[in-house]
Amino acid sequence: MTSTSSRHYERLAATYDQLWTHSDTFVRWMTERVAESLALRPHHRILDVGCGTGLYARQLVRAVRPVKPVLCADPSAAMLDRVEPTAGIHPVLASAEQLGSVRTGTVRPRVRPRSIDAILLKEVIHHVAPADREQTITGLSRLLVNDGRLLIIMLPTQIRYPLFNEALRRFEELQPDPEEIAAYVRRAGLSAGIEYREFALTVPKERYLEMVRGRYMSILSTFDAAEIDAGIGEIDLAHPESMLSFPDRFAFVIGTRPPMR
Ligand SMILES: C[S@@+](CC[C@H](N)C(=O)[O-])C[C@H]1O[C@@H](n2cnc3c(N)ncnc32)[C@H](O)[C@@H]1O
Repeated sequence: MTSTSSRHYERLAATYDQLWTHSDTFVRWMTERVAESLALRPHHRILDVGCGTGLYARQLVRAVRPVKPVLCADPSAAMLDRVEPTAGIHPVLASAEQLGSVRTGTVRPRVRPRSIDAILLKEVIHHVAPADREQTITGLSRLLVNDGRLLIIMLPTQIRYPLFNEALRRFEELQPDPEEIAAYVRRAGLSAGIEYREFALTVPKERYLEMVRGRYMSILSTFDAAEIDAGIGEIDLAHPESMLSFPDRFAFVIGTRPPMR
C-alpha cells in the first residue's frame, strides 16, 4: 500500500461505512453477487483481502453463515479497527502482497497454502503496485484448495460516474485493465473469466457532492482541497437535476483452481 493510499484510508476509516452504505439495496445486491460468484457454502473457509471495515464480510456472514470465521485482512489498522469483532469474523492485519508472500520482509501472516475455499478482493487490486500484481495473484492463488475460487471485483477502465472531468481522466489513466488481471489469474494456473455486473444507482446530488468532498474514491485523494472545491462546482453545473442516476458497473474476474489431476 502506498503512503498516499495509507493516509487516504486512515482518514476515511471513520466515515467509510456511512459513505458506502448510502444504499442498503446496493450492498445487499453486491453481497448476493459475491456469494453467487464464489459459490459460497457454509463449510467454506473464506478470506476477504482488503476487507476494509468488514462491510461485505459482515454481510457474507449473515447471508452464508459460514461455520469457520471469515478471515478479514487489511493493511490499514484504522480500517481494520472498524471491523466489529463478532464470532463470525477474524481480523488479520496484512496486505495482499503479504498474504501472497510477495513482501516477505515484514509480518508473514499464517494462512496455509491450499487452506482457503474462497478469496475475495473487492476494489483492492488497484492498490497493489503494478509490478507486484501478478506475483500477488499467483501467491494468493496458492492459498486455494482444489476447486477453490478467487474473485477480484474491480471497476472497469471507463466509468460513468458524475465526477468532474479531471477525476475521470486520472481514473482512466491509473485503473488496471480487468483483461490484464484475468491474464495473471490464468498464468497462476486457474481457469479464469470476466463477467460484468451493473447496478443502477440513484443518489441525491447533495449527498453525492458530500461523498466527493469526503473523497469517497481513492483517486479523489490525489486532488487538493481547492481542486476538490472546483470539481464540486463543475459537477454541480453539469447536473442541474437534484437526483443523480448512473450505472455502477463492475468487472468480476473469477478464477477457479482446477481439481488435482
Ligand atoms: C475501496 S476499499 C474496499 C474495502 C472493501 N473491500 C469493500 O469493498 O468495502 C480498499 C481497501 O483496500 C485496502 N488496501 C490498500 N492497499 C492494500 C493492499 N496492498 N493489500 C490489501 N488491501 C489493501 C485499503 O486499506 C482499503 O481498506
